[in-house]
Amino acid sequence: MLWRRARGLAWAGVVVAPVAEPLVNEQVLRGNYVFEQNCAVCHGRRGDGRGDMAEGMRPKPRKLTLGIFKFRSTPTGFLPTDDDLERTILRGLANSSMPTFAHLPARDVTAVVAFLKTLSPRWLHSENFAEPLSLPAEPEWLTDAAAAKPHQLAGQKLFAVQCAACHGTRADGQSSLATELVDLAEEPCPPTDLTSEALKAGAEPVDIFRVLLTGMDGTPMPSFRDGLSDEERWDLVAFLRSVRTH
Ligand code: HEC
Ligand code: HEC
Repeated sequence: MLWRRARGLAWAGVVVAPVAEPLVNEQVLRGNYVFEQNCAVCHGRRGDGRGDMAEGMRPKPRKLTLGIFKFRSTPTGFLPTDDDLERTILRGLANSSMPTFAHLPARDVTAVVAFLKTLSPRWLHSENFAEPLSLPAEPEWLTDAAAAKPHQLAGQKLFAVQCAACHGTRADGQSSLATELVDLAEEPCPPTDLTSEALKAGAEPVDIFRVLLTGMDGTPMPSFRDGLSDEERWDLVAFLRSVRTH
């Protein structure tokens, strides 16, 4: 293996017997290579967000050294699961420069996830891990226009109270707060135009439901896990489906 030979060279003069490294280290090293080839140009080689292309990018490439993630299936404040990270990498993030990496071989995606988890000390502490929240099945009425109507109206009322201050009454991201919201790094973090076709967290009903449970850590988008019931969350999903422009 190349990296083993390279290390042998660094120890020039000393005869080193080949040692069987644990699988996880091989995966991290492979992941480091995949990261340098595909991700470092934006995220920086050490994941500090300062890649060559990062200058002027909005939103900025994430500082992966912070260990704070927006797109998770875990409760607010906790680290994402491997599946969450893979979903982000495979899908990319709409309305941002983060591209899709669906073309990477599956083992490279697994490896780059293993590498990502070495970039922040948050991954060393068990108190930062949590089981993913379970998502209820999509209600049958959601795809039946007539049956969904009362739910849309209920969702619209909830939206006016809980969401419009940031996302605007028409959910188009136009609100008086829009230009004032900032993220953890004090960078502008405008509220999403929820009528747009592509959403970062995914635009399927279940994706919107998940964001309402988890919130988007490091941004003003809060978790509504305690504030709303499952029924109310589906009503909001129904309303947002009705305002989407496609
Ligand atoms: C062309 C630039 C670019 C490249 C290349 C890129 N990213 Fe990103 N990435 C971004 C930007 C910009 C964001 C922030 C998007 C946001 O916060 O809305 C981001 C965010 C992320 C996040 C944060 C997700 C979360 O839940 O908060 C992860 C993880 C990530 N990228 C991993 C990767 C990996 C792994 C690769 C390589 C396989 C990669 N990125 C390549 C620009 C890039
Ligand atoms: C305090 C301001 C605030 C409130 C209140 C708020 N949001 Fe958000 N929301 C945001 C911001 C800011 C973002 C964008 C975060 C980003 O892209 O980094 C966001 C993102 C989202 C997203 C994800 C968009 C995507 O691209 O995937 C959804 C869905 C969403 N909000 C729905 C809602 C709903 C529904 C409510 C009310 C129950 C609500 N938000 C309340 C500020 C807010």
